[in-house]
Amino acid sequence: MSNKVTRRQFLNYSLMGVGSFMAAGMILPMGRFALDPLFQTDAEGDEIVTSVKVSEITEEPQKVDFTFTQQDAWYESEVTNFAWVYKDGNKLIGLSPVCKHLGCTVTWAGDDGNPDMFFCPCHNGLYTKDGNNVPGTPPRGPLDEFEVGEKDGYITIGKKKENTLV
Ligand code: FES
Repeated sequence: MSNKVTRRQFLNYSLMGVGSFMAAGMILPMGRFALDPLFQTDAEGDEIVTSVKVSEITEEPQKVDFTFTQQDAWYESEVTNFAWVYKDGNKLIGLSPVCKHLGCTVTWAGDDGNPDMFFCPCHNGLYTKDGNNVPGTPPRGPLDEFEVGEKDGYITIGKKKENTLV
């Protein structure tokens, strides 16, 4: 048997090589474009300066709005969220308003029978001031906590984390 490459085989190999090279040149950039959002970092979590002065914060939890740019796959949008912020001595505490049962929004002193607690109106969930879920109510865990700081006299909201107060 001869080891010679015929003209037909040579043309086939050449066309396959050129074709593969051209296909890779088209597919790789498309793949990178399609997967690009997966490699983006999340904007939420950076320290966000709010319009609320630290001097306005008391020991009573109050709503502090913060706005950030959210990248949702290929769609970028401005999102406004809020945290419940209060002072514990000189320490600033920030709690997430998202109920740990099914994600409704909790309010401070929203239940007349429990004026010093966070209340979730969806299924009567209750949390103490430090975000701890009250046994016997639907939530199964404490409210998440936000890192809270100060910049030039204004409240800053940072990353959300597990509750460290309870
Ligand atoms: S969602 Fe809050 S108690 Fe059910």
